[in-house]
Amino acid sequence: MGCFGCSGISGEESEYPRNKNKKRNDNSSNKNKPQRQANSDSSKESIKKEESPNSEQLLLGVKNFALNAEVSVDGKATKAAHSFTFEQVIAATGNFRLDYFLGEGGFGKVYKGLLEETNQVVAIKQLDQDSLQGTREFVAEVSTLSTAEHPNLVKLIGFCAEDEQRLLVYEYMSLGSLENHLHDFKPNQKPLDWNTRMEIAAGAARGLEYLHVKMNPPVIYRDLKCSNILLGEGYHPKLSDFGLARVGPSGDKTHVSTRVMGTYGYCAPDYAMTGQLTFKSDIYSFGVVLLELITGRKAVEYSKERRAEYLVGWARPRFKDRRNFSQMADPLLQGQYPMKGLYQALAVAAMCVQEQPNMRPAISDVVNALNYLTSHKYDPNNCVQSSRRRKTASLVNINQAKGAVADRDFKSF
Ligand SMILES: Nc1ncnc2c1ncn2[C@@H]1O[C@H](COP(=O)(O)OP(=O)(O)OP(=O)(O)O)[C@@H](O)[C@H]1O
Ligand SMILES: [Mg+2]
Repeated sequence: MGCFGCSGISGEESEYPRNKNKKRNDNSSNKNKPQRQANSDSSKESIKKEESPNSEQLLLGVKNFALNAEVSVDGKATKAAHSFTFEQVIAATGNFRLDYFLGEGGFGKVYKGLLEETNQVVAIKQLDQDSLQGTREFVAEVSTLSTAEHPNLVKLIGFCAEDEQRLLVYEYMSLGSLENHLHDFKPNQKPLDWNTRMEIAAGAARGLEYLHVKMNPPVIYRDLKCSNILLGEGYHPKLSDFGLARVGPSGDKTHVSTRVMGTYGYCAPDYAMTGQLTFKSDIYSFGVVLLELITGRKAVEYSKERRAEYLVGWARPRFKDRRNFSQMADPLLQGQYPMKGLYQALAVAAMCVQEQPNMRPAISDVVNALNYLTSHKYDPNNCVQSSRRRKTASLVNINQAKGAVADRDFKSF
């Protein structure tokens, strides 16, 4: 049974994944989107753990959570999410007006809204009813985002849990998702330029670093992908959708055992095969997103025969020879990128998607490497970049990781 996408990672192709989780994936507007799926191969015990709480208990958890405003991050008290009535949600969305519809994912439909009380523009996500997994994700989302505060994480303004209704109210991200700008092109839409792509990667890495290193307890995101990176004014990126997030391993434990959940093409092979979730599972997904930004290719491309080609499987043989690198760049960039920056970005991506989780860098090293990269902006009028040839501590760290091409490219700084 294919581990949703990861079976094709070391090889080039695999069968088109069968849709086992019909409710979540069977919506027509999502036909071309990366598909989320749970892997039923993982141990019975961990499956049971994921399925045991009933929705009433979970909902009670959310309500209690909202009352407990003193949840702390780094020892500081944070404000709990606001609880909205369904009437307030109806007023905000004009009763879910069609022209307020923003998009639809596995959780349900998303609408733009205006909160009358504060005059704030928001995005409101309505959970498909009767979905137990959805209720679980709803609780995880509220609990993770209520305790988190970072410029690269989308803000949860509140939620509504009245009768059967489950809704999440977020800050509105005016430019939609990275997916919209990279893959779901509208006619006349300008492709993202190199500097913006690298800024988006660096911002997303900073959001992930906050979850991994700065939150207390640390959190594994588990759902990093282009559609979950939302863009605000100036393409400022924020991570969204924390429904699958899990508190990371504590003490001397190295992993958390869970039912395998995620999205085809983004899931680390080690996690898909064992159900053992680690911070390095997120690093792998980050590497896939970085590869998408560099190459313009999707995490999984389906041929006419509905066979899947995974981006990592496509990229790995090309990492072996730097003469391939310029051919890996997104043709829509039309050559407008710095050659050295391309090598460095590919080096970071190659490290992140390594097969062995312990060979992948820690997120703080990725952040430092990408901060360095973005501090040397590409200027098409001045192709010989005036970058000072200095090595940051993080790059030295990354160099120390054993792996493919990446070493050579960072050494050539
Ligand atoms: N806070 C927001 N501001 C603006 N648009 C949003 C916001 N949240 C979601 N959207 C829009 O709604 C669409 C659907 O989002 P949603 O998170 O439900 O699905 P998804 O990320 O595409 O899939 P998945 O359920 O697998 O995460 C997104 O593509 C995005 O364009
Ligand atoms: Mg999403």
